[in-house]
Amino acid sequence: MAKRSSLSKGLAVAFVVLTVSAIGGMVAMVTLFKIQMNGINATALPDTTTPSPTPPPIMRLPKTLVPELYEISLHTDFYSRIIEEVNVTSPNQSTLFTGNVTIHFHTVQSTDLIYLHCKDLDVSHHPSRLLNKEYNIGIKIKSMTQYQNQSEFLVIQLEEKLQAKMNYSLFLSFKGQMSTYLESLFVSTYTEAYPSRDFEEYSDTLRYAAATHLKPTQARTLFPCFDEPQMKAVFKLTLFHRVGTFAQGNAEMEGSDIMSEEWKQTRFVSTEKMSTYLFGFTVSEFKATDSPKGRVSIKTYTRPEAKEAGHAIYAANITRTILLFYEDRFEINYQPLKIDQIALPDLVTTGMENWGLITYQEASVLYQEGVSSLLHKEKVATVIAHELAHHWFGNLVTMSWWNDVWLNEGFATYSSYFAVDHVEPDFKIKDILIMRDLHEALKEDALITSRPLAVLPDDVQTPSEIKEMFDTVSYSKGAMLLRMLADFVGETAFNQGVKTYLKAFRGATTETTDLWQHIESARLVKNTFTVSKVMKTWTEKQGYPVININTTNGEIFQKQFLFNGSITSSHWWYIPIWFMKGSLETAFLWLAVPGPVKKEEFISGKDWILANVDCLGFYRVNYNLENWQRLLWQLEYKPDRIPVINRGQLIDDALNLARANLLDVTVALNFTFFLRNEREFIPWDSAVKNMEYFFLMFDRSQVYGLMQEYLRSQVTGLYEFFANETNASDVPKTHSLQHSQILAIKVACSNGLPECLEMVESKFGDWMNNGTNKIHVNLRSTIYCQAMAAGGQAEWDFAWEKFQSSTDSSERDQLRHALSCTRQTWLLNRLLEYSLNPDKIRLTDVASVVNDVAENPAGQALAWNFIRAHWDYVSQGDPVWLIEAVTRRFSTKFEVEELQRFAEQYDLGPTVRAVHKAIEQTQVNMNWVNKNKDRVLQWFKVITAHLDDK
Ligand SMILES: *[C@@H]1O[C@H](CO)[C@@H](O)[C@H](O)[C@H]1NC(C)=O
Ligand SMILES: *[C@@H]1O[C@H](CO)[C@@H](O)[C@H](O)[C@H]1NC(C)=O
Ligand SMILES: *[C@@H]1O[C@H](CO)[C@@H](O)[C@H](O)[C@H]1NC(C)=O
Ligand SMILES: *[C@@H]1O[C@H](CO)[C@@H](O)[C@H](O)[C@H]1NC(C)=O
Ligand SMILES: *[C@@H]1O[C@H](CO)[C@@H](O)[C@H](O)[C@H]1NC(C)=O
Ligand SMILES: [Zn+2]
Repeated sequence: MAKRSSLSKGLAVAFVVLTVSAIGGMVAMVTLFKIQMNGINATALPDTTTPSPTPPPIMRLPKTLVPELYEISLHTDFYSRIIEEVNVTSPNQSTLFTGNVTIHFHTVQSTDLIYLHCKDLDVSHHPSRLLNKEYNIGIKIKSMTQYQNQSEFLVIQLEEKLQAKMNYSLFLSFKGQMSTYLESLFVSTYTEAYPSRDFEEYSDTLRYAAATHLKPTQARTLFPCFDEPQMKAVFKLTLFHRVGTFAQGNAEMEGSDIMSEEWKQTRFVSTEKMSTYLFGFTVSEFKATDSPKGRVSIKTYTRPEAKEAGHAIYAANITRTILLFYEDRFEINYQPLKIDQIALPDLVTTGMENWGLITYQEASVLYQEGVSSLLHKEKVATVIAHELAHHWFGNLVTMSWWNDVWLNEGFATYSSYFAVDHVEPDFKIKDILIMRDLHEALKEDALITSRPLAVLPDDVQTPSEIKEMFDTVSYSKGAMLLRMLADFVGETAFNQGVKTYLKAFRGATTETTDLWQHIESARLVKNTFTVSKVMKTWTEKQGYPVININTTNGEIFQKQFLFNGSITSSHWWYIPIWFMKGSLETAFLWLAVPGPVKKEEFISGKDWILANVDCLGFYRVNYNLENWQRLLWQLEYKPDRIPVINRGQLIDDALNLARANLLDVTVALNFTFFLRNEREFIPWDSAVKNMEYFFLMFDRSQVYGLMQEYLRSQVTGLYEFFANETNASDVPKTHSLQHSQILAIKVACSNGLPECLEMVESKFGDWMNNGTNKIHVNLRSTIYCQAMAAGGQAEWDFAWEKFQSSTDSSERDQLRHALSCTRQTWLLNRLLEYSLNPDKIRLTDVASVVNDVAENPAGQALAWNFIRAHWDYVSQGDPVWLIEAVTRRFSTKFEVEELQRFAEQYDLGPTVRAVHKAIEQTQVNMNWVNKNKDRVLQWFKVITAHLDDK
C-alpha cells in the first residue's frame, strides 16, 4: 500500500470536540449538528419524496447494525479488446457497471436509520427493499440521502423502527463508472505483441483488464456497504462479464456459465469473514502459472505473453515456499484452499493483499532469467513475502480502526525479513533489508511534523486521513519496533506471544495493547520492564531518542533526536541498550530515566565503547569526542572488530548527528575515510546515502568538485576490486558483493572515474552498434544510467526506443530510470512531457519518473515546476512521494516561500503533512547549510589536498 501525510489541524481539533461533546449530552449535541452542517452538502437521491435528512454526527458508522453477509451481483460492461469493426467512430469500450447487493445484517439496537458508505454510485430508490427476515415482512423506506462530504455516507430513513436483536436484509441496486484512477474498479491496458491467428479480425493488439483496489476506503465505490475494517462479513459474488474474459474473485469459483453470445456469468462461493477493503475481483484474458502442488492451490496470473515466456515461474515457486514457512511459523494454516496472484500492468502500490486474490505490479512479481537482474529476485521475494504475511496480519487478524494500521504493515514488513531469508538463504539479505527500513524510519521520524506510531482513533477519520496512515512510520518504524521488542523479550517469547495473539483474535480485530498483552504473557521470566510499559513510550509519541554517552565518567542521558535542534522536547523512552567495550563481550542494560545518570559500565578507560550493537534499538548514539576518535581509529586499523551493521550505523549516526548540529561535521565526515579499504555493502551504502545529502545541499556550489574528487578517490579501490569481473561483464559470486559491485560502478562513474566512464561507453556503445546487449543483467541498470549521463541525444533516443519496445517489465523499469540520468535539460523536459501521455508512460510510473528527474541536479527545477503545472494528473499516483522527491534539494528562503504558496493554492488531499514536512525540512536545511558550509568546504579542501600528496 502507498504512503500518505496529515489531517488538517483544525479538523482534528473539531473531531476531538465532537467526540467529547457527544458524550456530553443533548445541549452539546445540538451545537454540534450545527457545526457539522456547515460544509455538508447533502443531496437527496433524485426520486426521493419528502427528504428529511439527519446529518451524520460523526464520520464513523454508528454501531447499531452489524453486517453478516453481502450477496453481490455485478455486471461489468467493459471489453478486453476493442472490436473496431463494430463501429469505428464509436468503439465498443464501455466503463459502465451496474449491480445490486443484498446486505444481511443484525440489529444491535433499535433504530430507524441505516448508515452505509457509498461513493460515486447512483443508487436507485426503486427497487430497494428492506425485509425483516424473522417475520418476512417488508419495511417502508422513507428517504435515502447521500452525503457529499467526507463521511461518504448513504443514510436511509425508515418509516418505522427496526427492532433490536433481529435479522434484516436490505436490497439495493446501483450503477457506476469504472475509475480512471488506479483505484476502486479500474481498467489496466497492455499490448499483446503476438496476437494469435484466431484473432486476425482484430486490427489492434491493445488489451484491457479490469481489477479492483479497494484499500483503504474504496469498497464503497463498488457497492454500498459498511466500509469500516471491524465490520467484517461474508461476501458472495456473482459477476457478469464478456464472453472471452475470465473472472477471479476472493473465493473459489462455484460455476461459470455462458449466458448468451456476449455474456458470461461467474459465481464464487462465500468468502471467509473479512473486512470490506479486502474484497476484490479481476476480469481479464490473463493466463495462470501453477505453483508446485500442495494443500492450497496457488496460481499466478499474467499477460499470456509473460506466461509463455515463463516470467511467473520464479514467483509461483517461491510463493509456495513462503506460504509453508508462514504456516509453520504462525501455526495457523492458510484458508481457503486457493491463492490467485495477479501481475497487473498498472497498480498504485507494489502489491495488495486482497484475501485469496493478491494483486501486484508486474515488475514486483515477474522475473526473467537472463534479463532481470539477479538482485531483482530480492524485490520479488520481498514483495510476495510482505503480501502473504498480510494473510495473518491484516486479513485474519485486523486492526479495529485505521489508527493502528501499523499492526498490519509493520508486521508484514517485519515478517518478510524472515521469509525472504528462508526462501533465499544465499542472499544473506536480512541485514540489508533491516538497514533499509531502519534508515528510512530514522530519517522520517526526525522531524517535528512526524507522528506517533499509534495515533488516537479520533485523529483518523476522513478518507484522506486514513490514507495518510500508510507511511514510513507504519511500515518501517513499525517493523523496527517489533524487532527491538523481539530482542528484549527474546525471540522465543515473542514468537509464542504472536502465536497466541493470532489464535485469540483470528476472524476478529485488535488494538495495539492486545499485542502487548499476549507478548507479555508469553515471557517466561517476568521483568519490571513490562512490554506495555516499555512499548508505550515508543508508540504513543512521535520521534526517537539519541543517547549521549560520556565514556570518561560513564554519564549517560537521552533526548529526542530532531534535525531542528531549536525545538525542545521533553519526551523520553525506556531504552534497551546492547553495548560492547573494546575487546569485551556484549552486555545489556536499560536506560529508564531521562538522565543524566552515571553507569559504571560506560567508563571505558583506554578502550572504546560501542552502543546499540547490531542496531537492535531504534535510536542513535552520540559519544564524547575521545570515544568517537577511538572508534575512528578502530575503523582505520581493524574494522572487523566492529560488526558490519554497526560500521554502517556509525556512519549514519555520525553524519545525521552532524545534520542536527550535535556533532562537529568534520568529525562526522572523517567516518567516511575508512571506506577506501571497505568492501562490504552495508557501510558503503550507508555512506553513499548520507553523502547524498551533502550532494543535494552543495551540488550547486563550489564544494561539488571537491566532493567528487574525494569520492572518486575513495571508491577507486572498490571499483578496482571488481574491475576484472566488471570488464568481462561478469559478477562476483555472493549476493552482497554483487550489491557492492553495482554501487562501485555507480559511485565511480557519477564522480568521473575515467576507467569507469570508458567501460560504460564501450559496453553501451557496443549494444548500440551491434544490436545485441551483452551487458550482464546485474549491471544493466547502473550502466544504462551512466551511459545516459555521459552521452547525448543519440544514446537517449536509443534507450527511449528500447524502452518503448521492451515487453519485460524489469527491463522497462531500468530503461525508464536511465532516461532520467541525462544531463541535457531539454531531454529531461521531454521525458516529463511524455509522462503526461499514458501511451508513453503509464500513470503507475509517473511518480517514479518525476522522482528520478528531480534527483538529477539538472532536473530539480523542472520537476518542481512540472508537478505544480500538472498537479491534478500527477498526484493520482503517489503524491506524498512526489512532494518528497521535488523538495529534496530545497534549502533557501525562496523555496520555503514557494512551498508555503503551494500549500495555500493547491488541493493537497492526503499530502498535507508531506508539504508541512517539506517546509520544515527546507528550513532545517537552510539553517544547516548556513552554519556548516565553510567547515564542509574546508574539510574537503584539506582532505583532497592530502590525496594529491599521495
Ligand atoms: C456509431 O455509433 C454511434 C453511437 O452508438 C452512432 O451514433 C453512429 O451512427 C454509429 N456509426 C456507424 C457508422 O454505425
Ligand atoms: C441483480 O443484478 C444482476 C446483474 O445485473 C441481474 O442479473 C439481477 O437480475 C439483479 N437482481 C435483481 C433482483 O434485480
Ligand atoms: C523452486 O524452488 C526450489 C526450492 O526453493 C528450488 O530448488 C528450485 O530450483 C526452484 N525452481 C525454480 C524454477 O526457481
Ligand atoms: C565527559 O566527562 C568528563 C569528565 O567528567 C568531562 O570533562 C567532559 O567535559 C565530559 N564530556 C562531555 C562531552 O560531556
Ligand atoms: C579528521 O581526519 C583527518 C585526517 O586523518 C585529521 O587530520 C583531522 O584532525 C580529523 N578531524 C577531526 C575533527 O577529528
Ligand atoms: Zn502491506
